[in-house]
Amino acid sequence: MTHRIALITGGSRGLGKNAALKLAAKGIDILLTYNSNQQEAEKVVGEIEALGAKAAALQLNVGDISGFETFAANVQKQLKQHWQRDTFDYLVNNAGIGLYGSFAETSEAVFDELMNIHFKGPFFLTQRLLPLIQDGGRILNVSTGLARFALPGFAAYASMKGAMEVLTRYQAKELGARKISVNIIAPGAIETDFGGGQVRDNAEMNQHIAAQTALGRVGQPDDIGGAIAALLSDELGWMNAQRIEVSGGMFL
Ligand SMILES: NC(=O)c1ccc[n+]([C@@H]2O[C@H](COP(=O)([O-])OP(=O)(O)OC[C@H]3O[C@@H](n4cnc5c(N)ncnc54)[C@H](OP(=O)(O)O)[C@@H]3O)[C@@H](O)[C@H]2O)c1
Repeated sequence: MTHRIALITGGSRGLGKNAALKLAAKGIDILLTYNSNQQEAEKVVGEIEALGAKAAALQLNVGDISGFETFAANVQKQLKQHWQRDTFDYLVNNAGIGLYGSFAETSEAVFDELMNIHFKGPFFLTQRLLPLIQDGGRILNVSTGLARFALPGFAAYASMKGAMEVLTRYQAKELGARKISVNIIAPGAIETDFGGGQVRDNAEMNQHIAAQTALGRVGQPDDIGGAIAALLSDELGWMNAQRIEVSGGMFL
């Protein structure tokens, strides 16, 4: 049986890495991207191979549209070389950064960076990769709990994620003709390097979030990687155009 292939942006660390390992454990091969951390990305490739799945790592700056032609060509090359295929099955638009700033103080430069990485990038990357996604395949975008509830300091970031939630419904509508389903996962606060690793390293913030979470703690990468693998499972193939929050019940 030929293995299915997932392309995960930002698979070198954090949630993308965890999702890659969870999918690989289910027998899915992985094309992962990194922005600057090639060494970490290659380590993840090794871990995936140790699980018995195939993997390759590619460089991608999701905030720089001018690189997408070259990236798509590289994806095609990898698909041919490792899988003798022209398409992959699952796209996970995960790559991202966290920049804090109140609404009053967010500069145009910070706004543009967040816009490029969290909305414009995934919009045009997915558009460019459409010919490489298998008919009947799946797209999973990544939002945040912050698009539902408001915490000071995230106006620009959360707005871009909110835009991704709307885009998800439009993509689902238009790509349904090709039997491609599109959903969006919205993680709560998770202990990763994200935003300088604050959720993990700032004890006060960690406790504050835990106290506001029904299940009584902040999230771990395993909570999201497993959810991503589950959301891409055949059993959830009829789910389409949905926002699924995975936050342990944060700020209910
Ligand atoms: N952690 C949370 O609390 C949380 C909550 C809700 C949503 N999210 C969302 O979940 C996603 C993953 O976050 P995370 O916590 O896993 O973050 P992370 O641990 O900081 O990892 C970020 C990943 O994205 C890559 N990346 C960063 N900037 C990039 C760019 N310009 N182009 C391409 N790739 C880039 C990094 O690559 P390098 O290793 O090369 O730098 C790395 O693989 C993001 O979309 C984030 O907004 C996170």
